[in-house]
Amino acid sequence: MTKQQRMQAHETGRPNAQIDARFAADVLQGLSRSQKTLPCAWLYDLRGSELFVEITGLEEYYPTRSEIGTLKRSAREIARQIGAHATVVEFGSGSSHKTPLLLEALEAPAAYVPIDISAEFLYESLKPLQARFPALHVEPVVADFSKAEDMRKLRKLLPADGRNVGFFPGSTIGNFTPPEATLFLRQAGDALGQGSLMLIGVDSTTDPEILVPAYDDARKVTAAFNLNLLVRINRELSGNFRLGDFRHEARFNPEQSRVEMHLVSLIDQDVWVQGSRFQFKAGESIHTENSYKYGEQKFAQLCAAAGWQEIGKWMEAGGERGNFGVHLLRCGAAA
Ligand code: AVI
Repeated sequence: MTKQQRMQAHETGRPNAQIDARFAADVLQGLSRSQKTLPCAWLYDLRGSELFVEITGLEEYYPTRSEIGTLKRSAREIARQIGAHATVVEFGSGSSHKTPLLLEALEAPAAYVPIDISAEFLYESLKPLQARFPALHVEPVVADFSKAEDMRKLRKLLPADGRNVGFFPGSTIGNFTPPEATLFLRQAGDALGQGSLMLIGVDSTTDPEILVPAYDDARKVTAAFNLNLLVRINRELSGNFRLGDFRHEARFNPEQSRVEMHLVSLIDQDVWVQGSRFQFKAGESIHTENSYKYGEQKFAQLCAAAGWQEIGKWMEAGGERGNFGVHLLRCGAAA
């Protein structure tokens, strides 16, 4: 990406300083709750995004392999259903690693609009993509797609010709609570428009023997990813977390059908962030991420409640652990 293109990149009209202010507010509020909680979007600074890329290559982390396998096998069929001249809008584009599989299969895609919360990572990741698709019109957007305000701004940037295709791989939908997921899908529908499509990856795995190692790997990359949030707080918000006094934990919560990531305090301790004191008892945790796993029926209900219909579904034929599907949705009532 050239410097000029970078300057043209949309930042939904907001300087990064405001993203930083949101980070501070979320941290101060989240650490004040009885169950301390931090929104998982903040895991993705530059280092966190790099660690997440490393996670996607781990033996234990099946979702990426499974989804890529499905996309490789079924991209042509998916592209046929999408049709020509689509504008591909990727929510949380990260490394844009899976995007070429879709772009290569599509007939004459009109544009690619990657959206990511980390400006640095977004621009870096686009370089190889632009080298691979030099003729493709790319319009990066620095935004938090979990925020209604950012989604409303996105709506103004997109063509209203019904050819927008949301791309939301990786089962990132699972990082929202079900009400948040419904809201996201509704807002995405508003931004993309009636008749638009959404290609979305959904993990339905519920076996804790598969899930817990997938979120607590032997090489401790996921632990580093989780603990990096404390490093970020120390650096950006004058925090004094001592990393050795916290440990990463992944738990499967069967009632909620979700994997939870926590940072557990090993000792009784006080931590300071931006001049505020937060007390921890030994064993007390900060809940940093949920990863909901949706069965067929639950996911269909979610889509229906948000105004989307499923029009296609593809899965790995077998061989990969877990149970991961790629779904194609249409916005609005059945045609
Ligand atoms: C981005 N998201 C879909 C990942 C997941 O599986 O929930 C984030 C992740 N957290 C730990 N490992 C991966």
